[in-house]
Amino acid sequence: MKIGCYVETYNFKYKEEFEALKLFEVTAENLGHTFEVTGKEIIDRLDDFDSVFIRATTDPLFTSYVVSRLAEERGKKVIDDSESIRICSDKVALYYRLTKNGIPVPYTVPFYGDFEKLNSIAEDIGYPVVVKAPNSRFSLFVEKTNNFEELLAIVKRFMRRNKAILLQKYIPSTFDWRIGVLNGEVIYACKYLLPKGGWKIRDVVNNKVVWGDVKAIKRDNLPSKLKKIAVNAAKSVGNGLYGVDIKQVGDEFFVIEVNDNPTIMHGMEDAKDKDIYEKIIMALVS
Ligand SMILES: Nc1ncnc2c1ncn2[C@@H]1O[C@H](COP(=O)(O)OP(=O)(O)O)[C@@H](O)[C@H]1O
Ligand SMILES: [Mg+2]
Repeated sequence: MKIGCYVETYNFKYKEEFEALKLFEVTAENLGHTFEVTGKEIIDRLDDFDSVFIRATTDPLFTSYVVSRLAEERGKKVIDDSESIRICSDKVALYYRLTKNGIPVPYTVPFYGDFEKLNSIAEDIGYPVVVKAPNSRFSLFVEKTNNFEELLAIVKRFMRRNKAILLQKYIPSTFDWRIGVLNGEVIYACKYLLPKGGWKIRDVVNNKVVWGDVKAIKRDNLPSKLKKIAVNAAKSVGNGLYGVDIKQVGDEFFVIEVNDNPTIMHGMEDAKDKDIYEKIIMALVS
């Protein structure tokens, strides 16, 4: 089978991501398939492929979404599918999906602009209150507020561009679990450690962008409760490839978010479970 992989130039920024793309290609070829990395021109070449793997950043307003939709229309197998892109790009929609399916999340109140109630919602949640705009990635529109003054400023700023945002209880921890789930199965796991001085895995400390370290954990060694929650969280979105972010407090787990299009870098996500390339290629050709 012929797999088309849609990328943008930023997918070559980190050598580890480039190496991962090479591993996808080699693995596909060893399994008797072809794997061609292409840019936006894939839109005019969809019939050259049997399935499409999107590695460019996904968002309903980006070309990646057009690629996903058009490939679906033509009956191709697509990762990420367009519904997953829609749900995962909207934290408010995702919140409703997760809670409707009984997935444990930090205590969250969707806020639609009723400023008279803001103070009592915040008192109910308890400070620090985490504020999230629906369409955030790389921690860009996620802020922690310590008092009403800070909260009001952030909420006002986020409400300028959004009709709804999330107010959420802060869950202290030293890392995020990142669980890779494909078609309802855990295929890898990592601890995304928080950077020194930061509280988000990508943060700004002393005016500099910092990322925490990544520590892979063998998927067979995960607590079974964690695996189950990750799989169910992913399933509440769909059957594609997801990176589920989870906070652990004692033996309790809270899903922070489900990401479609999860990062895969050689030496990081694949460090302990090296068969993730094979599993993803198999899912693309099945
Ligand atoms: N309720 C929370 N408590 C503690 N930390 C949080 C909470 N929500 C988010 N974070 C931290 O902020 C990061 C970014 O939040 P997230 O919801 O994943 O948004 P983004 O889509 O921008 O990555 C998370 O990876 C996590 O480390
Ligand atoms: Mg995140």
